[in-house]
Amino acid sequence: MVEASAPAKVILFGEHAVVYGQPAIAVPVSSLRVNVRVSESAQDGVAIVTPLLNEVLRLDDADVDNNPLVAAVRYALDALQVQGANVILQITSQIPVASGLGSGAAVSAAIVRGLAQQFGRVLEDDVVNELVFKVEKLYHGTPSGVDNTVIVYEQPVYFVKGQPIERLTFSGEYRLLIADTGKAALTRVAVGDVRKLYEREPARIQPILEAIGDVVRQARQALEAGNSVAVGQLMWRNHELLNELTVSSPELDVLVEAARSAGALGAKLSGGGRGGNMIALVTEETQSAVHEALIAAGAVRVFETTVV
Ligand code: MEV
Repeated sequence: MVEASAPAKVILFGEHAVVYGQPAIAVPVSSLRVNVRVSESAQDGVAIVTPLLNEVLRLDDADVDNNPLVAAVRYALDALQVQGANVILQITSQIPVASGLGSGAAVSAAIVRGLAQQFGRVLEDDVVNELVFKVEKLYHGTPSGVDNTVIVYEQPVYFVKGQPIERLTFSGEYRLLIADTGKAALTRVAVGDVRKLYEREPARIQPILEAIGDVVRQARQALEAGNSVAVGQLMWRNHELLNELTVSSPELDVLVEAARSAGALGAKLSGGGRGGNMIALVTEETQSAVHEALIAAGAVRVFETTVV
């Protein structure tokens, strides 16, 4: 029996605009993970067992086009050149699905790594990243690749679609609260809606995307300089711009405002939006007040992480 895992992620700046070539900054959340346990099976074929499914999924009966877990297994076995595998994959996850925290990419990454280990192979991160991106493309329309990248390399990244990955080094520590609206929202739908908006009104939307790009570049400088006040200001600004792209939601706006009133340095939605999670930048002094305010404003779960 072997085990592999992959972390959740949060996008600090630049979601959606990153699909159109603007930069984004994302960090892994190593304390929230997907785990995959792979063991030999007495039965023929591959079985996937996860609380996400009410039944055991058998690879032979399943369709790559209908299930990302199946796609990840198929792509991994093809890359490993394994035929006739008889294994059981047991998947457990601490990452809520459809919540902007990268659950899909994390499950794929853990599956690919688990199967590689089971068959005695080490796949380079670049190869794992490519395979996970392939699954993302199948299910998410036009992903930028930021989710799979930050999750597979498990390090803070400054990401520009199609360009070499840049690892970010921050000055100081950034204390984040990640608050869940409890409203599931599919990234694919939000990304598709922004695409329609862009195609309908390119002259209005392009400057918004570029303004997000400017925010991300300034945020990078602020993060590298350890200027958390500036980082916070840029988070509010990024949230406003995401609202202009129509990807916020009443639940997200309420949480962002609650964080503001309780003294957060900054807050914004994170990931695909329309629901899912938001992030608030806090200090040791404001953390508990902001945490309580988020719960009082309807967050179903608040999770703390420190970005270094
Ligand atoms: C989702 O985590 C991030 C988006 O920018 C989509 C993408 O980059 O593929 C909304």
